[in-house]
Amino acid sequence: MKIRESGMPSLETWEKFFNPKKLLATLGLDNQINDVAEFGCGYGTFTIPAAKIIKRKIYTFDIESDMIRLTRKEAKKQGLTNVEAIQRDFMADGSGLKDESMDYVMLFNILHLENPKVLLGEAQRILKKAGKLGIMHWNYDSKTPRGPSMDIRPKPEQCIQWAQSAGFHKPIQYDLKPYHFGIVLEKEDAK
Ligand SMILES: C[S@@+](CC[C@H](N)C(=O)[O-])C[C@H]1O[C@@H](n2cnc3c(N)ncnc32)[C@H](O)[C@@H]1O
Repeated sequence: MKIRESGMPSLETWEKFFNPKKLLATLGLDNQINDVAEFGCGYGTFTIPAAKIIKRKIYTFDIESDMIRLTRKEAKKQGLTNVEAIQRDFMADGSGLKDESMDYVMLFNILHLENPKVLLGEAQRILKKAGKLGIMHWNYDSKTPRGPSMDIRPKPEQCIQWAQSAGFHKPIQYDLKPYHFGIVLEKEDAK
């Protein structure tokens, strides 16, 4: 099922809110990263720039066929052959990716969902040991021009706590001006 308040404004409006290249660099998405999984591609705002940076492939999932179609179209237009855009309900069916197969997981503008444990558990499962989890979300500030309602909008400390409970450690928090915060964590070795 589609997560709550996950509809998108127009592409033009959405893309005004971010500088994806700068943001990805801040969150440690660099050319040493092999494979990436992204939950919720939306317009491919971060998928396409990430595909241009990494060594191998980005697997991205969305429940909306339109979002998958647009992301595939943009990848093709830009000559990218390393974008695998898959229509899938990742809350009901997970990602279908193998255990410990990914180097980086992107959870961008998505952690206001009903059950963050499910998604963080899936991220934990598919990441390699010491793989990175990148979280980004709207600041906990009612004055941002968009973002989930304040009653369901997670604070950075809440995201860190959820991620730590799911088996991630070493959180580093970033201010992704003007409207977002970022957190990068590492998958903890199984005890
Ligand atoms: C707020 S948008 C964020 C998109 C992208 N991460 C970004 O920051 O530009 C959330 C996306 O998640 C998708 N989505 C919501 N629930 C989903 C589900 N259960 N399975 C797969 N995709 C889902 C929506 O269709 C939407 O495109």
